[in-house]
Amino acid sequence: MIIGKPFLTTEHIHEKVVELADKISQDYMGKEILAVGILKGSFMFFADLIRALKTPVTLDFIIASSYLKTTSTGEIKIHYDIREDIAGKHVLLIDDIIDTGISLNYIRERILSKGPASLKICILLDKKERRVVDVPVDYIGFEVPNKFVVGYGLDYDNNYRNLPYIAIFKKET
Ligand code: IMP
Ligand code: MG
Repeated sequence: MIIGKPFLTTEHIHEKVVELADKISQDYMGKEILAVGILKGSFMFFADLIRALKTPVTLDFIIASSYLKTTSTGEIKIHYDIREDIAGKHVLLIDDIIDTGISLNYIRERILSKGPASLKICILLDKKERRVVDVPVDYIGFEVPNKFVVGYGLDYDNNYRNLPYIAIFKKET
């Protein structure tokens, strides 16, 4: 397996996280955010983003999986669901990457059915070309090409999540 040189460097990612957090802090001024991270992929982005927010934050997670290796199964399993009461809260859903949009769409509708005061979505990477379901995303870090990426929380078979940068993943031939 080959991990190429950084596609998005640590510095590049950090700058974008601060930019996103500033925008979110402005938009939510005077409100409290319930930040919900979709695990495992979002853990690093989630931790960096909420540390850069200037608004009060409570948090929770959803553990969901839709992927086997690099092929989307189109099937979503919820392994851990939000424990916080969502009703009346300003929910900010945070994920690493939007690809087909199938999992995010499923999770979005699940949260909406619980009556939040508002729901916005923040995603670090947008693989626009691959979209199957149209999901309204409010904050996007970077648009990425249709390549499999790893690092900064993103995995291949649960590996490479700890890389401090994002790289394009290639299988050795
Ligand atoms: P979607 O339902 O197809 O949008 O899949 C979204 C999920 O698939 C993301 O939250 C990731 O966990 C995973 N995923 C999609 N593309 C990649 C990638 O390039 N690298 C690592 N994980 C990915
Ligand atoms: Mg994910």
